[in-house]
Amino acid sequence: MEFKHFTLQALIFLVIFLPNPTFSSKSCNFPAIFNFGDSNSDTGGLSAAFGQAPPPNGESFFHAPAGRFSDGRLLTDFIAERFGLPYLSAFLDSIGSNFSHGANFATAGSTIRPQNTTISQSGYSPISLDVQAIQFSDFLRRSQIIRKQGFFQKLLPEEDYFSRGLYTFDIGQNDLTAGYKLNMTTEQVKAYVPDVLAQFSNVIKQVYIKGGRSFWIHNTGPVGCLPYVMDRFLVTAAQIDKYGCATPFNEVAKYFNLRLKDIVLQLRKELPLAAITYVDLYSVKYSLITQAKKLGKCFLFFREGPFLELTREKGLIRFENPFLACCGHGGKYNYNRFIKCGSKKVINGTEIVLAKSCRDPSVRVSWDGTHFTEAASRWIFDQIVNGSFSDPPVSLEFACNRG
Ligand SMILES: *[C@@H]1O[C@H](CO)[C@@H](O)[C@H](O)[C@H]1NC(C)=O
Ligand SMILES: *[C@@H]1O[C@H](CO)[C@@H](O)[C@H](O)[C@H]1NC(C)=O
Ligand SMILES: *[C@@H]1O[C@H](CO)[C@@H](O)[C@H](O)[C@H]1NC(C)=O
Ligand SMILES: *[C@@H]1O[C@H](CO)[C@@H](O)[C@H](O)[C@H]1NC(C)=O
Ligand SMILES: *[C@@H]1O[C@H](CO)[C@@H](O)[C@H](O)[C@H]1NC(C)=O
Repeated sequence: MEFKHFTLQALIFLVIFLPNPTFSSKSCNFPAIFNFGDSNSDTGGLSAAFGQAPPPNGESFFHAPAGRFSDGRLLTDFIAERFGLPYLSAFLDSIGSNFSHGANFATAGSTIRPQNTTISQSGYSPISLDVQAIQFSDFLRRSQIIRKQGFFQKLLPEEDYFSRGLYTFDIGQNDLTAGYKLNMTTEQVKAYVPDVLAQFSNVIKQVYIKGGRSFWIHNTGPVGCLPYVMDRFLVTAAQIDKYGCATPFNEVAKYFNLRLKDIVLQLRKELPLAAITYVDLYSVKYSLITQAKKLGKCFLFFREGPFLELTREKGLIRFENPFLACCGHGGKYNYNRFIKCGSKKVINGTEIVLAKSCRDPSVRVSWDGTHFTEAASRWIFDQIVNGSFSDPPVSLEFACNRG
């Protein structure tokens, strides 16, 4: 009797208190998202500060410009949807914003390192990652002061949302092209990558000090597969890979990602309470582009048949030429850097749109030669959400657990 009693207690003790791998991971229910980045995740920052992303941006989902450089939703939006959270308002947007479940500090054209050129010279946003970090810290401090005064309580995050929230990062691509714009060689660009990543690491540490615990970090994409890069920089035939991407730029992106992974490993050691998920967006985007290229014809065949719905299945590649921009003007890629998506001209007092949208953005990968379509972003989201491209391999819902 005595013995039996003891074992029952012991069993209960074991079940409740001992770490068990199947019990230790919990679903996170993030109440807020705080995002940092560039145009891949900008939901209105650059538009608020430097002018609207013009129509037809936003046409597919929002049916009007919505601060995004895309026809519809971005990865950030799909992440928010997954947690049942509203789409993130841009921190810089003073009208109609609702920050109750997070804020977005990203702006199109942002780099990690502050640039020494103005936006009118180079096109890079002055809201670089260090500035985004300052804005975040300002947002945290002032939102809590104002809530405590009893104002805007339904528009600002609760205090504990800052520690329970998910911090997402998608930035780095513009730091790589910035060097090429200054006529640097690939070796010269590689040489400054460690400095760029040191600055990235500093920002993660700053957010941690302010209470951030869950980090979801996208690595940088295959920038050498983007029409604007192939159009802008000199690429020789020998530098084009078998799928049509420019190798030197992709090599630099891969180098950046390798170093980024080192930084993540280092941060895990230095920040004992942080759960940091590294997401290999490069591989997902590259496979989208290469598979679309391979399967494009097959897809066209399906679309002409009666089984249109079949092609809409999750995960199935259903895209046309991945290098052909949907919204643009002329040339090999339907991309002209002087006549960007939505560009207008006034002729005899009438406004003429020079760079219009294609008929069906849902079968395009590239929206405007630089950014992805909503359909591409959705496909990418479906690939990454279950953790199969993450290190550690945890799904989005479990990203608050240390691996
Ligand atoms: C800007 O100039 C400073 C001073 O010359 C230099 O240290 C820094 O690396 C430059 N930044 C970039 C992004 O080139
Ligand atoms: C802000 O958004 C949240 C979540 O969607 C909502 O519950 C709240 O009412 C909104 N606040 C205002 C003032 O509209
Ligand atoms: C880069 O090279 C081009 C062509 O030689 C030149 O026109 C441009 O001014 C150079 N840019 C910089 C920043 O040095
Ligand atoms: C503008 O109007 C003038 C006068 O009616 C006409 O001659 C000209 O062809 C028009 N230009 C264009 C581009 O339509
Ligand atoms: C994750 O999702 C993708 C796309 O839906 C699928 O191909 C893959 O098999 C999934 N991986 C796991 C581990 O569930």
